[in-house]
Amino acid sequence: MDEQFAQDVMHGLSAEPKYLTSKYFYDKKGDALFQEIMALDEYYLTRCELEIFQNAKEDLLIQFSNSGKSFDLIEFGAGDGKKTKVLLDYFLKKGADFTYLPIDISQNALNLLAADLRQSLPSLKLETLRGEYFAVLSQLEQQPGRTKVMLFLGSNIGNFLKPVAVDFLSQLAHTLAAGDLLLLGVDLIKDPKVVASAYNDQLGVTKAFNLNLLTRINRELGGDFNLKEFIHAPFYDPETGAARSCLISNSPQTVSIERINATFHFEAWEPIYMELSQKYRIEELEQLARQSGFSIIKHYYDSKKYFTDGLWQVSNKTDK
Ligand code: AVJ
Repeated sequence: MDEQFAQDVMHGLSAEPKYLTSKYFYDKKGDALFQEIMALDEYYLTRCELEIFQNAKEDLLIQFSNSGKSFDLIEFGAGDGKKTKVLLDYFLKKGADFTYLPIDISQNALNLLAADLRQSLPSLKLETLRGEYFAVLSQLEQQPGRTKVMLFLGSNIGNFLKPVAVDFLSQLAHTLAAGDLLLLGVDLIKDPKVVASAYNDQLGVTKAFNLNLLTRINRELGGDFNLKEFIHAPFYDPETGAARSCLISNSPQTVSIERINATFHFEAWEPIYMELSQKYRIEELEQLARQSGFSIIKHYYDSKKYFTDGLWQVSNKTDK
């Protein structure tokens, strides 16, 4: 049994209001469901970022290589690498001198990615790194004249509450050297109908993605959640830009979880908070960068301006 998972579930379901942590969505089934989400008509995020990369790859190479220098391309949570591949492929064709280092907590995800890349881009210099993001990053040595370029894509930053995002990015700036770069993918505030339907798809894949965490608790922790007793309720607040998902108990019920020795009572219509997908305004991103020790070199956009990839640079540390 995963101790941290058990502890986090205990903690979250004992809280008022109850919550679970979305990083636990990604077991084998969850990975597959997220792949399905990325292919949904309603889920525009992945397609927007792909469009941005296709249009910006030439400029990104100039920026990353600072006109010809070698660099390390380090990605937090690479997933299937589909978007990153657009960049990798182009950089190789242009003869750029770089190494690609995806960091992930899941060895399984890294193995799949590495097998795919060795096949499709055999000349790529690739080093997979398994572990917690910052534990791994702080062990990478600093090589003079070689820029670190971090990738944190897909609006993964949106899973953090805003103050947690500041902490995360500050820690990143602190771990990197002045002049190092970050390409940060962020979903922007837009027509609320567009956002709302991205998290409430017709086919019910997002609902299954949320419910799968209850299934995981049943399997790994000996829970007895009855999935039919929970309603998927996503909602979006256009003022704050927070898209949240809840699972709501449709009746009074008690759930027991054997391996953590606990039972949890649910009132009728009581929610479990599952996930935050925070959307940002450009001005907020400028502020976020400043607060965490970066300056933004430029923003790249898709044609609809739904999404942005910001090129951030670690500020001179004496300025802070
Ligand atoms: C992978 C965290 C960026 O929040 O949009 C997709 C996950 N959740 N549909 C997001 C997700 C529901 C996704 N991130």
